[in-house]
Amino acid sequence: MTSSTSLASTFDSTCSDPDLESRVEELLSRLTLEEKIGLVHGNTKFTTAGVPRLNIPTRWLTDGPHGVREEISPDSWIPAGRWDDYATALPVALGMAATWNPELVQAGGRLLGSEARARKKNILLAPGVNIQRTPLCGRTFEYFGEDPFLASRMAVAYIRGVQSLGVAACVKHLAVNNQEIDRMTIDVQVDERSLREIYLPAFQAAVQEAGVWVVMGAYNKLRGQWCSHNSYLLNHVLKTEWNFKGLVVSDWNAVHDTTEAVFNGLDLEMGTELPPEKHFLSEPFRDGILDGRYHIELLDEKVRRNLRVLIATGGMEQEENRPSGILASPDHRAISRELAEEAIVLLKNEGNLLPVLLDKVRSIAVIGENAIRKHSKGGFGAGVKVMHEVNSLEGIRQRAGLCADITYSVGYSAEDAGQEALERAVKTASRADVAIVFAGLGRAPYLDDESTDRASLALPFGQDELIRRVAEVNPRTIVVIVSGSPVEMDSWIASVPAVLQAWYGGVEQGTAIARVVFGDVAPSGKLPCTFPHRIEDISAHDFGSDTYPGLNGKVFYKEGLMVGYRHFDHQNIEPLFAFGHGLSYTDFAYSDLTLESGEGAIILNASFNLTNSGSRRGAEVAQLYVQDLESSLPRPVKELKGFAKMMLEPGEQRRVTIPLNVKAFMFFDPERSGWMAEKGHFRILIGSSSRDLRLAAEYHFEDSIFEPVPAALNGHAKREPVSSSDISLCEARP
Ligand code: BGC
Repeated sequence: MTSSTSLASTFDSTCSDPDLESRVEELLSRLTLEEKIGLVHGNTKFTTAGVPRLNIPTRWLTDGPHGVREEISPDSWIPAGRWDDYATALPVALGMAATWNPELVQAGGRLLGSEARARKKNILLAPGVNIQRTPLCGRTFEYFGEDPFLASRMAVAYIRGVQSLGVAACVKHLAVNNQEIDRMTIDVQVDERSLREIYLPAFQAAVQEAGVWVVMGAYNKLRGQWCSHNSYLLNHVLKTEWNFKGLVVSDWNAVHDTTEAVFNGLDLEMGTELPPEKHFLSEPFRDGILDGRYHIELLDEKVRRNLRVLIATGGMEQEENRPSGILASPDHRAISRELAEEAIVLLKNEGNLLPVLLDKVRSIAVIGENAIRKHSKGGFGAGVKVMHEVNSLEGIRQRAGLCADITYSVGYSAEDAGQEALERAVKTASRADVAIVFAGLGRAPYLDDESTDRASLALPFGQDELIRRVAEVNPRTIVVIVSGSPVEMDSWIASVPAVLQAWYGGVEQGTAIARVVFGDVAPSGKLPCTFPHRIEDISAHDFGSDTYPGLNGKVFYKEGLMVGYRHFDHQNIEPLFAFGHGLSYTDFAYSDLTLESGEGAIILNASFNLTNSGSRRGAEVAQLYVQDLESSLPRPVKELKGFAKMMLEPGEQRRVTIPLNVKAFMFFDPERSGWMAEKGHFRILIGSSSRDLRLAAEYHFEDSIFEPVPAALNGHAKREPVSSSDISLCEARP
């Protein structure tokens, strides 16, 4: 089997391929018990043992979501200290989501696949698709935002890109890993409908649309059982209902019990902080098979899944027959820059202060530590060791240094916020034609980082005061927020005319920001999450500590479906900046919405005219929300179900069509355990953001459609019992 045909024909984790299956069975039949056991647990931090006599290679797994992580020591988290483990850093996942451009995200995925191939990795532990329940979650930057539809589109594009290079993507962390505080212990209590409608769709799309080969279980518990061996999530939903044929890997050191790991759907145990032979799926599993507690078939099924992924991704082929990879090339920098540019969201632009026109401006004051900080390396597993990252000051100097006098003043520092630095920055700003303040967070503990949450939404290190003072002395102040999650702006937003949200933009962040600031490219990003005025406006923070961060080891998702803009709509709360918001340097007009029935799976096509009514080239993300006007169960006011990003020349008009399938109308009915599209009236809303809706039309859904989850799964909240009677059914067949 040549690699190109094998990749094309087997690249789907939900379909059976007879050739692939017979290769798996053939290999399986030749493995000894010890060799099989070696394939279901790690032997170093990021590898599993090979079986040289059968040419089964050592498998290499690697983080992460924005670039291939540097090499780590075999048995500790200390970097290996190599010279050849750099890679290209992309913008963080929340920034990728802000592009609302699946094609570009897929190109980013291909880049990651290519670099993972060049670094000889089999599995890339990404993307993360946990929904943003609170912006304080330390890993907000690693995920695709608050909306399940947008997160699904991004996940599918990303995974297709990665896997096209013969590298398995690993969607993580299944499921409800929505906070970092207490992530290793917290037990999430969420109702079934919210689980299905908010927290699982991106995983489901990853499996059923993108054919992702690997799924990672989360650290936390769901309804009392650890997610890395949670029978309901892994056996029932993932493997039976979604028909997932790939492998489930634990999060690192997330396995707690051999019997649960054996029975509850885990296929590969990684990161357990015990010697390899002491892993839960190592000697304890083998001994249990030998003394008859576990049937050998339980091991065979795990081995099958491991081999299937290895073979399907070309891991048994000769190197020369596999897609080749390239590391940190100029082309990759260009893709990273494009993503960074499209990720930038223009939040505010009073008096068209942006773009800065270099024929009108003589001096620019650049203020703030985030103008000189390099961010790609930070954030633990999501960090990337890069050869060179263009910081914002460098980007601005390169782009404008010959035309304007550029002065820099740090203003604040993460290390030692000082009044003197602030006063110097204010003086620098007062002398310049334009002041650009680079504010925000950093990829460090208690900011944007793994294993801790932020304590508040506020900007740290005295930045609010710095921005206020700079804006007082310079009316032409632009604030660029460099962060991986929303920040509070209420104390200064009214006095600052222009604000850009730039996220962490990867290796070309500074170039991308400069190109937007000076108008080489018009901003076209849109917020993938609501920016609230205050943290209390977020539904998870609206109740008590039992809804966040949890009480007595449990966290209750009392807000149910009302996550993100769903809550703001439901409670009629004015956000600081709405989900889907993002301005451009030009304007767009919407007109002539028509609804027509579609063909095949498409039941409705919503078409409208989109016109660039301004004087500059620019791209708009037109968004489609569905509102259910008469429903037997309460529903959110509206839900995103489609979008289209269009680049238009000044004056250009295009007819845009957004297709909708039946899923766009469905809700999950927990009583009947299935998806329902209910007969009745719906409103189709089209607009430039979730709060800037320009067109509306009504649609009558003629006949209800109900899709039950597979019958065996009715009674969905049940967990597979791990009881002695189950175990006694298993014959010992070593
Ligand atoms: C993280 C995962 C990561 C793994 C390996 C864990 O701490 O939660 O996302 O892939 O470590 O580094």
